[in-house]
This record gives sequence, structure tokens and C-alpha cells, in this order.
Amino acid sequence: MYTIQQAAKMFNISTNKVRFYEEKGLIKPERNQNNDYRYFTEEDLIKLQSILLYRVLGLSIEDIKELLSKNTKNNYLDHFHKQWQIVNNEIHRLIQIRTSLEKIIDTIYEDTEGNKQANILKVISETNEINMLKNQWEDKWDFNSWASTYDKAVTRNIGTLGMYKNYNKILDKVFNIATSFNKQDPNILEIGVGTGNLANRFFEAGHNIVGIDQSREMLNVAKEKNPKLKVRLGEFLKIPYDNKTFDIIVSTYAFHHLDDKEKIIAIGELIRVLKDNGKIVIGDLMFENEEAKDRLFASLTKEQICEIEDEYYSSIDFLQKEFKKYNKTISYTQIDYINFIIEVI
Ligand SMILES: C[S@@+](CC[C@H](N)C(=O)[O-])C[C@H]1O[C@@H](n2cnc3c(N)ncnc32)[C@H](O)[C@@H]1O
Repeated sequence: MYTIQQAAKMFNISTNKVRFYEEKGLIKPERNQNNDYRYFTEEDLIKLQSILLYRVLGLSIEDIKELLSKNTKNNYLDHFHKQWQIVNNEIHRLIQIRTSLEKIIDTIYEDTEGNKQANILKVISETNEINMLKNQWEDKWDFNSWASTYDKAVTRNIGTLGMYKNYNKILDKVFNIATSFNKQDPNILEIGVGTGNLANRFFEAGHNIVGIDQSREMLNVAKEKNPKLKVRLGEFLKIPYDNKTFDIIVSTYAFHHLDDKEKIIAIGELIRVLKDNGKIVIGDLMFENEEAKDRLFASLTKEQICEIEDEYYSSIDFLQKEFKKYNKTISYTQIDYINFIIEVI
């Protein structure tokens, strides 16, 4: 048994801090019945140490309380994923602010016409719009509830468009294009990893791959299928990695969940985390251009058009234009009437 002073000294914190955690219900030291002094058991001390370590990661008091209350894998994953997202969002927000401050400083230095204020406000409002777009994306298709049946749905080629008819062929081809890249031990990222079908092709061939997805349930299924596959929560618009981390980025059947404005931001993100001379390979539902889209729509049923319009298929023309801004070129392969693979170098 330890007194509050001994407990506080052990971790180099004040006794007030220990009392605060008690007040918040995180620890419940026993009381001496005679003098009402607190006494801490070894178990209390381990708890106190855990609280202090969780605080280092920035976890809130509420989260720590829930973490300590249930020693289950899911409970841990819930809270650490939540914190991972909070930290990642904050990093993205701050980087965005830093970039606009840089632009503002340049604007001030370079202003010769006395338009300083207007130019500064313009930069701020652009930053604001990007931040809003980055934070507004939401999964309106509810992939969490689709996760457990996704692989079956793909095998059955669900939907009126037959978009999964060439599913395995597409994944194989994306794998082949990506791995034909002449790089030793490439660092590979898959975005929208889903249940892990593409990532496992890389994993089984001995590659170093991490898959991100915005859906926790999709990641759970991917981990059930291959416990050794590295997966993380993450979004196209806020890729949770540093600049120039990956040699290869791949994605299948995921990019069309972003509209054009979001795609522009996502392309910026892909380029940001891609190493110089890296490669991006995306298999997805696309049209070559607006005319091809119109021709296709003329041949489809109302139901099929609705299915397409529920999502945001890319036009390759548009992607070419956007990637060109980063000096990247696209080549593409058409797999069937609606599925394409683009290779960006
Ligand atoms: C149709 S599934 C495809 C899964 C897998 N890539 C495949 O080919 O089987 C789409 C996946 O993309 C993920 N996704 C959609 N939008 C995303 C976004 N903005 N950021 C990250 N993942 C996203 C979904 O959660 C889902 O797992």
C-alpha cells in the first residue's frame, strides 16, 4: 500500500493531479477508515501509470476511462483508432494552415500594387474551402454494414451494371502493372483496401504493403482474412502518412466515391505521399471522356444510369488534366465497358 504522496512521487506528478484522476473516476484508491487517508495498491499504481502514458498520446479523460473499463481488443481498437484519426486530422489542418501562411508571406513580399489585404483574404478563403472539403467527406454508402457480405457480393457480381464481372482480372492486372515497376523492395500503399483482396496479392508475393480504408468494419474483415496484413484507418483526402513515403500507390473500386472537387484534393494527397519517380495504379469505374459517357448513357436503362449516378465515376480526360498539373502522365487500359486501369508516372 502506498500513500498519495508516495504515488505522486513515483511518477513525478503533483498530488493534485492524482486527486484529479480520482475525481474523474479513473482511479479509486481505498480509504483508511480511521483517518480517511487514501491508500494505493500496486494495481492502482499500474492504472495511474497507464493513465499518464495514455495522456502522452493525447487521449481524453473520457476515452481513458472507457479504455480502463474494458480490457477487450475492440475497445482498445476503438479508442486508439479514434485518437489516430484526431491526430491525423489535426496534422492535416495544421499543414494546411502552414502552407497558407507561407503563401501569405510570399504575397506580402511580392505585392507591388497595394492589394495585400485582398490577396491575403483570398488565400485564407481558399484554405478554408479545402479544409471544409477534406472534413466534409462522408461514407454515404455505409461500407461498415457492407463489409461482412462484400466478398460474396463481388463473387455474385451484384448490381445491374455487372461492374464486378472482371473483378479478379482487374485486381491481377493492377498487381502486375504495379509490380512490373523496377524498384527494389518498394513501399506500397493501397487506398480503400476494403476486405484486402488486392493487398493480399502483394502480401503473398512478399511485398511490403499497408492498406488504408475509411471503414473500420472493412479493416476488421481484412484482418480476419489475413491477420498479418498491415491496415490502418485512413481516407483519400487525408492520407495518414508523411510526404514521399511510398514508391507505389494502388487502389481498386474506391476512387469513384469522391466527386470531382474531392478528387482534385485526393490527387494532391496521392502526389504528396508518393516518392519522386513513384507510380500510381488505379483500377476503377470510369469513362474516357464526356462524349463517351453520353454515348454509354444512351445505351443504358434508367436503373443502370441511377446506379452510376449514385457514385462519381471519373472521366479519364479530367484525371489526365489534374495529374498533368504535377507533371505526371497517365496511360490507361480499358478492361470492359465501364472498368479502366490507369497508370500514373
Ligand atoms: C467497393 S469497395 C472496394 C474494396 C477493394 N478495394 C476491392 O477492390 O475489393 C470501396 C472501398 O473503398 C473505401 N473507401 C471509399 N471511399 C473512401 C475514402 N474516401 N477514403 C478511404 N477509403 C474509401 C470503402 O470504405 C470501401 O472499403
